[in-house]
Amino acid sequence: MSGAPPPRLEVCGLSATYAADSRHAEVAALRDVSFELRRGEFVSIVGPSGCGKTTLLKMLAGLLVPSAGQMLIDGVEPPELLGRLGYMPQNDHLMPWRTTLDNVTLGLELAGTGRPAAREIARRELELFGLAGFEDHWPRALSGGMRQRAALLRTFLAGRDVLLLDEPFGALDALTREAMREWLLGVWEADRKTILLVTHDVEEALFLSDRVLVMCGRPGHITTTLEVPLPRPRALALTGEPGFAALKEQLLAPLREEARLRLTVAAP
Ligand SMILES: Nc1ncnc2c1ncn2[C@@H]1O[C@H](COP(=O)(O)OP(=O)(O)OP(=O)(O)O)[C@@H](O)[C@H]1O
Ligand SMILES: [Mg+2]
Repeated sequence: MSGAPPPRLEVCGLSATYAADSRHAEVAALRDVSFELRRGEFVSIVGPSGCGKTTLLKMLAGLLVPSAGQMLIDGVEPPELLGRLGYMPQNDHLMPWRTTLDNVTLGLELAGTGRPAAREIARRELELFGLAGFEDHWPRALSGGMRQRAALLRTFLAGRDVLLLDEPFGALDALTREAMREWLLGVWEADRKTILLVTHDVEEALFLSDRVLVMCGRPGHITTTLEVPLPRPRALALTGEPGFAALKEQLLAPLREEARLRLTVAAP
């Protein structure tokens, strides 16, 4: 028997179709997607734009109903998925009429914690999330990196032990993005939640993850699964090492092939 912990989340044969409406034809967004997430694991999904990454996360968050397949949490299919897993959408969705502090407490409040207690809990985490001193600022007065950290803190505070993060650093410049990667690893190493992160960035996926899934095609499906045998804790210097470059090449090969196929299909 292997010493691996049991799967926390099992995704079995998920497919998704967006129904046709008066202006758009039906879209088959995902086909037969299966994988599992073990307790405390950090897994990333990389794939080109439009391959269905957000669709997959929305289904796992319970916001979309799959056209086929099922999801099991600790071996059981939950009657209701909505609210079971923490979800950070692709856009940070901070509410402009709530201060930073009141934005990050939202998940706690929705779960029934009173606002004063929720604020107390959130204040303890502001430092770790680089937001100390900014709790009374409006979201419009925060930098892009701060907004993303506030959205992440809101997701962390919602108290779920599986987090779905959709391009959490998507809106950031390259240097801030790099700093945020190291920071996220620090936060994850502190309490080892199970994380499924979506990104376009192969280096980001490798640096952060225990495993990387490559998703391609329309409808999207998983074409490659790569174990990342890099030791932890990880520092940014790792990305300059030959072993890292070799792993990166293994991920880029199927993505290049996908890009080539798309161009061929698109050519007149
Ligand atoms: N609400 C919707 N109605 C109809 N089609 C949709 C809807 N949302 C997404 N799609 C389609 O489903 C497919 C997958 O979209 P999705 O947003 O999941 O891709 P993605 O991999 O997250 O892309 P990106 O990397 O650009 O965020 C695309 O073809 C998209 O046009
Ligand atoms: Mg997306």
